[in-house]
Amino acid sequence: MEKPSNTLKKIYHPSKEVKKRANVKDYEPLYQESISNREDFWAKEAKRLEWFRKWDKVLDASNHPFYEWFQGGRINIVHNALDRHQKNATRNKLAIIWEGEPGDLRTFSYHALHREVSRFANVLKSMGARPGEVITIYMPQIPETVIAMLACAKIGAIHSVVYGGFSVEALAERIEDANSRILVTADGGFRRGKAVGLKSIANEAMKRSPTIEVCITVKRTGEECYMENDRDFWYHDLMSMPLACSDCATVETDAEDPLFILYTSGTTGKPKGLVHTHGGYAVYTASTFRYVFDIKPEDRFWCAADPGWVTGHSYMVYGPLINGATMMMYEGAPNHPYPNRWWQMIEKYGINILYTSPTAIRGLMRFGPSWADRHNLSSLRLLGSVGEPINPEAWKWYYEVIGKGRCPIMDTWWQTETGGHMITPLPVIPLKPGSATKPFFGNEMAIVDDRGNEVKTGEEGNLVIKNPWPGMARTILGDPDRFVEKYWEKYSEQKWYLAGDSARKDEDGYYWIIGRIDDVIKVSGYRLGSAEIESALVSHPAVTEAAAIALPDELRGNIIHTTVVLRQGVEAGDKLSEELKAHVEHEIGPIARPAFVVFTDALPKTRSGKIMRRVLKARALGQDTGDLSTLEE
Ligand code: PRX
Repeated sequence: MEKPSNTLKKIYHPSKEVKKRANVKDYEPLYQESISNREDFWAKEAKRLEWFRKWDKVLDASNHPFYEWFQGGRINIVHNALDRHQKNATRNKLAIIWEGEPGDLRTFSYHALHREVSRFANVLKSMGARPGEVITIYMPQIPETVIAMLACAKIGAIHSVVYGGFSVEALAERIEDANSRILVTADGGFRRGKAVGLKSIANEAMKRSPTIEVCITVKRTGEECYMENDRDFWYHDLMSMPLACSDCATVETDAEDPLFILYTSGTTGKPKGLVHTHGGYAVYTASTFRYVFDIKPEDRFWCAADPGWVTGHSYMVYGPLINGATMMMYEGAPNHPYPNRWWQMIEKYGINILYTSPTAIRGLMRFGPSWADRHNLSSLRLLGSVGEPINPEAWKWYYEVIGKGRCPIMDTWWQTETGGHMITPLPVIPLKPGSATKPFFGNEMAIVDDRGNEVKTGEEGNLVIKNPWPGMARTILGDPDRFVEKYWEKYSEQKWYLAGDSARKDEDGYYWIIGRIDDVIKVSGYRLGSAEIESALVSHPAVTEAAAIALPDELRGNIIHTTVVLRQGVEAGDKLSEELKAHVEHEIGPIARPAFVVFTDALPKTRSGKIMRRVLKARALGQDTGDLSTLEE
């Protein structure tokens, strides 16, 4: 038997069958063409979509870094995701197959989805929704989440989906930042056999951020919830009124009009609302979905993410629907009631492509191969991974136990900011476990030092993107200066985008992502900021100062370690430690719950007052704390 280390170094070449059916047979020539004639490449891709008016200019780069794509073009992403499919056989095809955690099943053809979206769009209009206003969506994983997103886009409103696992403060802050007047939520959702309430959290958030005038609630779990007169409405009540008719014109938007904002964590406590557009984002998600997942009309595609994250936006909703694909959606936990739940659904629905995160794979790997082995997984032909580096052991398990050695794994590197895949395999690219392989068409990357010089092959450095691409975020809502400062200032001379990840490139030009270079913490692939966790901690009356760091964890990638300084007279102890963990969970959500709370008299700081997280990390890991000469005390 080969030793594991040798097997993991192996290069996995695509099989003849994979090559034969691939949408792109040969990566290199098309890649070279795409970077030498970038605008031509994207114009050709854009022509696959239907435009109300063709663009005048593919790219306007005159106002760096505020690039504009398909300038002058008129489009609506929903026209491309739904309306245009009504004219052909796709109308009768399944758009969504949804399974609830208790086992209930709902399906929507393209016709049915189009109808429901139109009806809800009319409901939103009856509530006074206007093009350009931000509507917040705080939902579990149910079809109405997708319906609400598409209904907003259809009428030219901007959706801001807040992940259903977030809690009071996180939701309140996002509502307020977007100045949102309408909230769409649900009573709750099912997770691990329990009803998890969302409306109660939404109610508390609405108290903290009073901008919401209308709250529409979907009944999912049936639990009691407080409804306020004149503000709260049930989704099913509104949808049963004559006003919710299925006739609703799709608004023509400018290619550069905002489609959605999505909040993501950065280095300060305030989350950033990244803005994506109707035109460029539609083109970018449609193309990446088509090439990377090699989509065919007969495919059933399952992106096991949450619509509340960018992966859900791009590859559950927009990429698949624009391509007329059938997508699977599942409400609950992967191991409920048993760890074969996913494999059972793959068999039952005949899923061909599965796209998930390394954390989910590691979590299911723990239960051993027998849960997967009892199911027929032969429908699978392609696998995908996203959100964090996939360790070679998990890669191999996914490849062998789930893909039976037949299915290439698309390890896609990208970000909320990029809108879609940036470094990614295509089915025909030979794979190295743990590497996201090569840049997607049109993109040029580099690994550079702090001055912008390319580092040597195999050395670690900052990952930069050297060119604009259609799916790029256009700005941060209400804070263009922060957009410039965060992503474009460091390499302003070269006009490069700073990704915030460190990486290396090997002798074959393959990229290997190492991790974040800033204070962003990835827990189970979810993105959190140290500062967000710290501000949640200091909002507790016992705490005066706090620092949060990431510690490596085999299952979740990272876990959160916090160090707190208590107010004078407050007594440290296990009880308080548990209380603080629960407090962070209540403010941000269960994913932000610290694994450790350590009490201290003072945080290590530089003379200028910056917390030295490096020192805290070394201490927590029992390592040498290194040079402490710059420490304040
Ligand atoms: O650190 C990288 C990691 O996730 C970050 C972006 O997080 P978010 O905006 O939440 O988007 C996640 C889903 C696109 C990146 O800066 N990351 C994402 N994909 C990978 C990855 N790290 C390694 N390999 C990946 N495939």
